[in-house]
Amino acid sequence: MACEALLPGLGQFEYLLTVVGLVYVGKVLLELIWSLACGFRAHFWSRLWDKRLVETYGKWAVVTGCTDGIGKEYAKQLAKRGMNIVLVSRTQDKLDKVSSEIVQEYDVQTEIVKVDFIDGRHIYEDVAKHLQDKEIGILVNNVGVMLPHPMEFELASEKDLWGHVNVNVASVPAMTKLVLPGMLTRGKGAIINIASIAGLYPLPLMGIYSATKAFVDYFSHSLEWEYRDSGITVQTILPSYVSTNMVKFSDILQRPNVLVPTASTFVSNAVHTLGYARRTSGYWAHGIQVHMAEKFGNKWLFMYFNYLWNSFLLRNMKKNQSRSR
Ligand SMILES: NC(=O)c1ccc[n+]([C@@H]2O[C@H](COP(=O)([O-])OP(=O)(O)OC[C@H]3O[C@@H](n4cnc5c(N)ncnc54)[C@H](OP(=O)(O)O)[C@@H]3O)[C@@H](O)[C@H]2O)c1
Repeated sequence: MACEALLPGLGQFEYLLTVVGLVYVGKVLLELIWSLACGFRAHFWSRLWDKRLVETYGKWAVVTGCTDGIGKEYAKQLAKRGMNIVLVSRTQDKLDKVSSEIVQEYDVQTEIVKVDFIDGRHIYEDVAKHLQDKEIGILVNNVGVMLPHPMEFELASEKDLWGHVNVNVASVPAMTKLVLPGMLTRGKGAIINIASIAGLYPLPLMGIYSATKAFVDYFSHSLEWEYRDSGITVQTILPSYVSTNMVKFSDILQRPNVLVPTASTFVSNAVHTLGYARRTSGYWAHGIQVHMAEKFGNKWLFMYFNYLWNSFLLRNMKKNQSRSR
């Protein structure tokens, strides 16, 4: 028999199991090769060419939550590539400062929109007034909040609760709704949605944050399918930890390293991936983490590990606080 010729000494059942095993290993290998190729394209190949963002997408970029961290770096990186920037955030003096930095450094125009996304629906009328008559080429849905530190849900304040809903969730489709019609008319544009690795699986002690980021991931991914043939790029970014104010509760996460980059390192990587990856971590070292979590991760193990990790961060924070008293 053919099976005996190929694998002598095996019975039919053992032969069948061997074939199933080989097919599985083949599938895992192919997936790994595919992921490596996609990772190479997004994080290394993309760096060989600097995109002409104004010509490809349009003159203006809108960045929400742009006065600090990832949003501020996106605003600067896009301005560096010649885009005018609509700066949307909540603190006037920080907005003025970022605006003058950008104008001086990159010689582009800026427009400031001071709004607090926690206020919900009515702020979008004001935002719309600032956007009308502008060719919006890129929208970066970046604004986001997190609990001040890992905690059980009962301890979260009402402000935290509505912050997560109005800032992390509602802002993404609401801002998208404002810019999408213009992009469709022009047949070009890009919408970059900042989700998080935290949305891949439920995250105990950060449950509400994780749930909002799962929303962003799902919404963004669906939008990308809906508009893939319209000339509009929808990109989902899933960072792991970035050393910003958002993680200031932890001295460990405040120290930048290869796994926890500064916002500037993170965004200078992420900005290159636009047009090269529809759904990406944005930064190669985070790409490995996202790949491991998605391909080999077990939901229970991920939740268990993250429960232990968040408990550790919380204990560490309390220890530091009691030391400094
Ligand atoms: N840092 C991480 O480890 C990490 C990891 C994965 C994903 N992300 C995501 O990346 C995005 C940016 O995070 P980040 O770490 O850069 O945060 P960040 O350093 O805390 O900056 C947040 C920015 O959003 C603004 N903002 C916050 N609440 C606002 C509100 N209610 N209305 C208007 N503006 C508001 C802040 O304004 P002020 O300057 O006035 O406070 C600031 O400019 C978020 O969506 C976050 O979920 C972050």
